This record gives sequence, structure tokens and C-alpha cells, in this order.
Amino acid sequence: MRLLRTIAGLQTYLESRGEGITVGFVPTMGALHKGHASLIERAAAETDLVIVSIFVNPLQFNPAEDLSKYPRALQADCQLCEDWRVEIVFAPAPEEMGMVTHASTAAFADTTTVLPPVAMTECLCGAFRPGHFQGVATIVTKLFEIVKPHVSYFGEKDWQQLAIIRALVKDLNLGVEIRGCPTVREISGLAYSSRNQYLTPEEKGRATRIYRGLQKAQEAFLHGETNSAGLIAIVERELQQDRGFKVQYVQLVHPETLEPLPDIGVAGGVLAVAVYVGSTRLIDNLFLRQRQFIIAIDGPAGAGKSTVTRLVARELGLMYLDTGAMYRALTWLVLRSGIHVDDEIAIAELVSLSRIELIPGQDETDPTTVKINGEDVTLAIRTPEVTKSVSPVSAQKCVRRVLVKQQRQLGQGGGIVMEGRDIGTNVFPEAELKIFLTASVSERAKRRSRDLIAQGRQNIRLEQLEKDIQSRDEFDSHRPLAPLKKAFDAIEVNTDGLTVAEVTAKIVSLYQQRHQLLSPKTSP
Ligand code: PAF
Repeated sequence: MRLLRTIAGLQTYLESRGEGITVGFVPTMGALHKGHASLIERAAAETDLVIVSIFVNPLQFNPAEDLSKYPRALQADCQLCEDWRVEIVFAPAPEEMGMVTHASTAAFADTTTVLPPVAMTECLCGAFRPGHFQGVATIVTKLFEIVKPHVSYFGEKDWQQLAIIRALVKDLNLGVEIRGCPTVREISGLAYSSRNQYLTPEEKGRATRIYRGLQKAQEAFLHGETNSAGLIAIVERELQQDRGFKVQYVQLVHPETLEPLPDIGVAGGVLAVAVYVGSTRLIDNLFLRQRQFIIAIDGPAGAGKSTVTRLVARELGLMYLDTGAMYRALTWLVLRSGIHVDDEIAIAELVSLSRIELIPGQDETDPTTVKINGEDVTLAIRTPEVTKSVSPVSAQKCVRRVLVKQQRQLGQGGGIVMEGRDIGTNVFPEAELKIFLTASVSERAKRRSRDLIAQGRQNIRLEQLEKDIQSRDEFDSHRPLAPLKKAFDAIEVNTDGLTVAEVTAKIVSLYQQRHQLLSPKTSP
């Protein structure tokens, strides 16, 4: 781990690391805890170089809040980053960031600021912390500009902040991918926060009531209560039981726009709370959404992913998203348009303007219909011509970017099984079940040899097949675009010695276990 205090130092370091690596960025204000650890762990699993910034941002404190009292623990934070294998800690002084050291109202006068949509900044916490989100948006934009990350990680505990940053990145085309990470809780249910250190042990015990209230509302939601007033009342009733609490708000809002919701619809709703426990202000929330699971199945070539994914989808009555068909449809369009497969710019234009549809068949004998720009290409995408060109077309950055976006749209409602190499790490990092399907090189070589023999091929050398598989693995794991990686929370299933039916049954059973774990306990 290296501690850097200046922008010049950081940028020189990044230049020395060269091109072609993905930078994962975790912005913080220090006083690191397990919540930060989870963001860092995820960044480390999904990107090549992890940068953590530590900067107590004066712009997000208003004069009524005590900027000077915010916990600062740089040495301890650096030690934790060392333990968590962070490559760079960027901890600039306020002057280095071009900031005065007093709180926002005065500091805003001295600097250009970023103003997110007022409707998003003046609700929930914004109503009680004037200027706070403007300050957050400004510092995050500055940090993105300095660090130039590919992916940046934020905790869902600060849901309003996360929604505002997503809007900021979208509205200003900042080109960084924002990933929200689930709230990490103590065993008692209390969400980790740098502010918890202000609580006395007695207050800490009492504060667990906040999550209990949210959980009770979640339980009611899972049993059919979707009305905002009903859900809010459940949380309020729980909080009212502690006369020492000062509740600022309990609200149900839309997860993206933060608009107050009368009812929870398909997009789900965020039930958010802010409460003073003694003199410490705590926030918490739960995202209530009833979506079917997303199952992500990743793994190396030859582990049997396609067959197994199809069977798992059929067994569980979920949709099977054939991402391969999407890449093929686009390749077909490139060829039909007379564009050369290496012409990245023309392909970028074409792909951005095209629309792919996958319409599931009625049963196994009825294949998925594939349409691109309204034209049925189900059969056309299986020609040798398309097969020959699908690899170079899929290797284009813009193709992956656009298709990953479409895949996310298709899967956002859940109820889907998807296979690939980066589904659990990149396309659906929030998938409820992630499987990493693998098999030893020798087992995969044997399977491949059986397939080739069945196709009438002779003189197959197992040794050569093993070598080919090894070099393919090496290539897939190290390619800069969508490399093969096991998500840190994926369950590894080794298919050595197992039949397709056995592997399918194993995944179905993992799904059922997980489903049971995440579903409400029905009262006896
Ligand atoms: O969540 C935080 O710690 C801060 O608001 C952030 C995102 C680092 C900006 O200062």
C-alpha cells in the first residue's frame, strides 16, 4: 500500500501503471470500518487497481455541523488499507483539493460547485442538511476527474447519496460505473457507520431498534403490505417505543428518483429513516422489492455452462438469457451493413442505434426468437459467416458496453438465469445467486474429446486438447475486456465426475436454499 498526498503523485503513479488496467475507486472520509471493508473487498475482486481516497470534505458539512469533530484516524486507516490489500490511499489536504477548511455555506462562495436535481437533494436527509449533497456531488466529481476510475463503489446505507451520484454520472456523462454495495451490519443489526463511535454502549444497544423497525416493515411487505402509510406506521411504532429517540423522518421513496411513493410498485421502494439517538444522528434504510432471483453462472470454457444454464432455467421456470445470441445478432447486423469487423467507430454508431429482442419460445422445441431492429434473425445468426466474425465483433469495447447495458435492462425485473464470464462480477454483481462453474483441465479435455469423436473426428490427442484449454483459460482470465473472474461471493461448483443432471440438481438445490434464506418465515 502506498499513501499519496498530492494529485501529481497520484497521477504519476497511475501513468506508471500503464494502460489496460481497470481502476476501482472507493471514496471515503476515513474512520474506516467493516462497511468500507466490504466496498474495498468488492473493488479488489472486480478491478485490477484499488484506490481508496480519504478526505473529510468541508463542502458537505454545514455550519451547524461540526466539521472539526468528524473522526480522523489516518494512521489506523492506512493500516487497515494495508491489511485489505489496497494499492493506493489518496489522502490530500484541503488545500491540495483547492478547498478552504470551513464548512459549506461559506466554502461554496470560493469554488465552482455541482448542483444535482433539487428534488433529489432537498428530500430525506437533504431537508435537514442544507448544501450537504451539493457538497458531496462537487467533491465526488472532482475526485472522479483526478482518479479517473473505471468503477466506483458506494454503500447502500447512504442510499440518497448513491442515487444522487448515479444521477450525476448519468446527467454529466462522467463515464464511470457506479456500483452500490449492500449495507454491512453488526450482529445486532446496527448498520456500520463512522458515527457509531459517538454512541455510548447503552445508546448502541438502543439504536438496534432502528433496524428492527425496518425489518418489521419488510416482513409486512413480504406478506403483502405495499402501502406507504402502512409501512411507515410500522417503523414509527417501533421507534416511538424509545422515548429518547428524536425521529427526523421515516419515508418511502422511489429507489432512483427518490420521489415519495404512495405504494410500492415494480421498481420497489426504499424505506428510509433518520433518527437522533442521544446527540448522534443515525440513518438506515431497506430496499423493498419483490423481484424473482437473478442467477449468474460464470466459468471457463468447457465447464458445461450453456447446457446447465438452459436446464436450470427450465427446471425453475426462469428466463434463460442467451447473451451469445445477442452478440451474434449484432455481428449479423455489422456484416449486413457492409461494415468491416475492425471498423470500431462505425460499429459503435451502429450498435448504439440498434435494438435486440429475445422472445422466449413456448417450450423446448420452440427456440428463442431473436430480433434486431424488428427483423427476425433467429436462423440467420447461426450461419458459418456469423460464427467466423462473432469473436472480433464481441471484442470491441463499445459492443460490450452497449450489450451489457441491454442485458441489465432485460434482467432487471429478475426471474432470469444468465451465463458468461463476467455476469456475477460485471453484468449483475447484485445477482442473488452466483455460481462459478468449473472443472479440471483434464476433465474438460476428456469431454471435448468425446464431443469431437461424436462429430466423427479421429486422431484426437488429449494432451493437445489440455494445452489448448490451458491457454484459452489464460487468455480469458487476463484479457482486458470482461475477463473471467470468480465473483468473491460466488459459489464454486466443480463438475468433475458429475453428470449434467447432477450439476443441474446441485444448482437448483442451491437456489432453493438461498430462496428459503431470503424469503419471509411464514408464521405457524
Ligand atoms: O460517503 C462518504 O463517505 C462521503 O460522502 C464521500 C462519498 C466520500 C464524499 O465525501
